Amino acid sequence: MRHDRHGPIGVFDSGVGGLTVLKALIDRLPLESTVYLGDTARVPYGTKSGEVVTKYSLANADVLLEYGIKLLVVACNTASAVALPALREALPVPVVGVISPGASVAAATTKSGRVAVIGTPGTIASGAYQRALEVVRPGLELRTRACPLFVPLAEEGWVAGDVPRLVAERYLGDGLLSGGVDTLVLGCTHYPLLQGVIHAVAGPGVTLVDSARATADRVAEVLHERDLVKKERLATERHYLVTDTPARFAEVGARFLGHPISGASQIDLKLRG
Ligand code: DGL
Repeated sequence: MRHDRHGPIGVFDSGVGGLTVLKALIDRLPLESTVYLGDTARVPYGTKSGEVVTKYSLANADVLLEYGIKLLVVACNTASAVALPALREALPVPVVGVISPGASVAAATTKSGRVAVIGTPGTIASGAYQRALEVVRPGLELRTRACPLFVPLAEEGWVAGDVPRLVAERYLGDGLLSGGVDTLVLGCTHYPLLQGVIHAVAGPGVTLVDSARATADRVAEVLHERDLVKKERLATERHYLVTDTPARFAEVGARFLGHPISGASQIDLKLRG
């Protein structure tokens, strides 16, 4: 098994959502090859226990290792929130999650020192953003809220109009952004698709932080630090793997990635234990 600089970057998510992270990665590092795995048979992860999400995450990583990946990106916020320590311990390649990069950007962005984070129930309950922010900028005031309905809205393509606006008003109301919060972290793969409506409801005084771009920057840093940047002019390859039928993944995923997806293959996970 090779883990050299010519190997692809592996990216996994519970389904299509992580394609927002892949998109940022391709924009940032267009020459690097990628293998994306969406665990569409088990999505959503956001409402499952940390133990179960960790088991699925390790199985996703095992599949990607077979493709000779040189670095793993955990594109799913929920998996990043609960499974990073287990992945880092088990894998022979660097592992980059989405939470610490997003937290670093939030800490650098806020002027008031008051930050809000929205994500899945699993991400919010894990306290991972609190811990990550405490590392980069101790003493920040943090508010959090789980916004589970944003996930199906994004997948249905209902990203503008009355329905998402009413949902956003409900989630972002009730004091989440009051008292000088000036930075809102989109702590879920799906939320960048709802950026327009979230921004409109949050108001011009609140800056949205999209962890996808921050994660792509972190990946670029790690590749440089570890001398893993692809140097030769080898072809750039894109592989897509899913654990349930590729048809819906290709259809919904095209909206997340911003261009059509062809040739997704269906594979099985081997769960450990
Ligand atoms: N990918 C998940 C995340 O970013 C959202 C979808 C799910 O719940 O699986 O947390």
